[in-house]
Amino acid sequence: TIIELETEFERIIQSDQRIEPRDWMPDGYRKTLIRQIAQHAHSEIIGMQPEGNWLTRAPSLRRKAILMAKVQDEAGHGLYLYSATETLGVDRAELTDNLIEGRQKYSSIFNYPTLSFADVGVIGWLVDGAAICNQVPLCRSSYGPYGRAMIRVCKEESFHQRQGFELLMTMMSGTQAQRDMVQESVNRWWWPALMMFGPPDDRSPNSAQSMAWRIKRHTNDELRQRFVDMSVPQAEILGVTFPDPDLRWNAERGAHDFGEPDWDEFMQVVKGNGATSVERIANRRAAHENGAWVREAAAAFAARTAAADTT
Ligand code: ACO
Repeated sequence: TIIELETEFERIIQSDQRIEPRDWMPDGYRKTLIRQIAQHAHSEIIGMQPEGNWLTRAPSLRRKAILMAKVQDEAGHGLYLYSATETLGVDRAELTDNLIEGRQKYSSIFNYPTLSFADVGVIGWLVDGAAICNQVPLCRSSYGPYGRAMIRVCKEESFHQRQGFELLMTMMSGTQAQRDMVQESVNRWWWPALMMFGPPDDRSPNSAQSMAWRIKRHTNDELRQRFVDMSVPQAEILGVTFPDPDLRWNAERGAHDFGEPDWDEFMQVVKGNGATSVERIANRRAAHENGAWVREAAAAFAARTAAADTT
């Protein structure tokens, strides 16, 4: 009966075991996972664009090879996340349509332009750093295929974060103009990086239920705090500052106090009014349309192979 199924689902969640694709799950759980994992997949795919912008202008062959590998990793992350979403009964083609028709979201962070090569380093350090902070706990997410995908994603993100930090260390030991370029980039990315964790807990409609289902393991504000505490000592090593006059150590709390991100800006970006929102989706749509012949050829080949097998 439905009561038995619900009891068994609750037992699995409460005992920290995994829900797998063939297990019964409440509709809300399935919908929440599809929403979150699809948004996550879209973010990885759209996230290729801001850095891809610098591939042809990387200052050395070494930097170009690293950047190329990183952008390809993001494509891979998107693909395993789409596969994880497919285990919940949706089709990747449908998810792609949802993205290019603006029916599904992707991370706010990818709606900002990459104006200097220092942005490549700062995205690695802060944006991928924030992604790791958010995603390491997701390795323990209650849905098996999502948690398992996160393990590999996090390993690769760690490499991305370190390449960013190493790039910035190199620039910081260069000329004054290079150091200024890094600081200018940090000033632009700091607040958007904090917004990646989502709205404050009292304005986060999905958190309570996602925590109860153990899809999410920490609230948005908990992870944002963890990220600030982690980033401050790294900024000191690098020799840059964050553009927040309220940022200071609070010995009583054993954590940093910090200012409030501009939540109106966040809401605008999430609604599709970010600086590069239109361009990102237009590029994704063009890539999808230009790739139609590959999908058609693959489908025709598969059909011919299947027909040959049955004759
Ligand atoms: N950018 C865009 N939309 C956001 C963001 C953000 N940074 N943060 C929250 N939102 C959206 C939510 O998707 C939700 O909208 P929806 O109900 O239409 O889906 C709404 O704002 C309210 O937020 P919450 O109730 O807090 O939503 P949720 O519980 O899903 O928490 C979070 C948001 C923390 C982003 C969560 O979905 C998550 O951990 N996702 C997986 C990580 C991820 O997607 N990372 C992608 C960027 S990192 C990278 O790829 C490098």
